[in-house]
Amino acid sequence: MTRSELRQLRNAFGTFLTGVTVVTSRERNGIPRGFTANSFTSVSLDPPMLLICVDKSAESFDVFTRQPGFAVNILSENQVETASLFASKRADKFEVAQWSGSGTGNPVLAGGCAWFDCAREQVIDAGDHVILLGRILSYEYNDGLGLGYVRGGFMSLGMERSAANAAGRSSNVVVGAIVECKGKVLLFEDPHTRILHIPASGLRGSAGSLTRLQSELEKLEIKVDMGSLFAVFENEKTGQQSIYYRAKVDTDPARDEFWGFETIPWDRIPPGPQTTMLRRYIDEAGRQRFGIYFGSDRDGEVETLR
Ligand SMILES: Cc1cc2nc3c(=O)[nH]c(=O)nc-3n(C[C@H](O)[C@H](O)[C@H](O)COP(=O)(O)O)c2cc1C
Repeated sequence: MTRSELRQLRNAFGTFLTGVTVVTSRERNGIPRGFTANSFTSVSLDPPMLLICVDKSAESFDVFTRQPGFAVNILSENQVETASLFASKRADKFEVAQWSGSGTGNPVLAGGCAWFDCAREQVIDAGDHVILLGRILSYEYNDGLGLGYVRGGFMSLGMERSAANAAGRSSNVVVGAIVECKGKVLLFEDPHTRILHIPASGLRGSAGSLTRLQSELEKLEIKVDMGSLFAVFENEKTGQQSIYYRAKVDTDPARDEFWGFETIPWDRIPPGPQTTMLRRYIDEAGRQRFGIYFGSDRDGEVETLR
């Protein structure tokens, strides 16, 4: 397969929304090892079994395929940092994370939704990965919400739920998206006033929705890849709910509606939420660390997936 074919297949796999786990074990000399994995699948109740797929190129590959056991930690929605830490090659993963040893000594991370301590049952060869089948020896869980992963980004079910609730409470809903393509954002111009606004559906009375927004953009031949939530707020005077997402376009934005971060004409953007959202987006894009705003059009808080 060519590099581009591989990327396409990876993108297709990435449409499957999964949870996120950290799989841990110990080297023979006791040194803890672990990596982030979303290939977790529950397999059997009786006997209790689960599986995880391990990349043959992972540095910890030998540990997981040779040691007698491993633990799977299901991450909760406030453990984005833990997921990123264990997806890295950092040598100090277990110095940064908080953890304790399970009954068999495999590391159990603090703050997760569940963990399963397993004996290695079987290692099945599968292309560039192996399927690691584990027999569950002990486990624990709590009522925390799991962290989600889709299309290469983390998501929080709790926050998405808040947005859905906000939308469900009212037919007076605007659903919009900050659409980025290579450092440029999409802004539509009002032909009469020349005011620029972030793409949104539901601005003219009818209830907005994500599907309506996407189909309106598709009519303009702008095919967006919808990402995570970006802001959910209520207009204090009118009660209108606004839900904004982050979105990406891959194709070259050789159209006037895309504005480089540096060239946005701020005097043509209405003060208030539109300006605030755009400024926050640019700031957070620079740091590659996005949050979600919850509140009203005047006051609220940005929650970050930690
Ligand atoms: C959300 C997410 C899911 C991942 N899922 C897997 C997986 O299922 N199997 C795997 O081998 N690597 C997976 N990875 C990649 C590993 O976490 C990454 O390659 C890590 O560096 C491996 O650590 P190591 O090389 O120190 O063993 C995933 C990464 C992320 C961010």
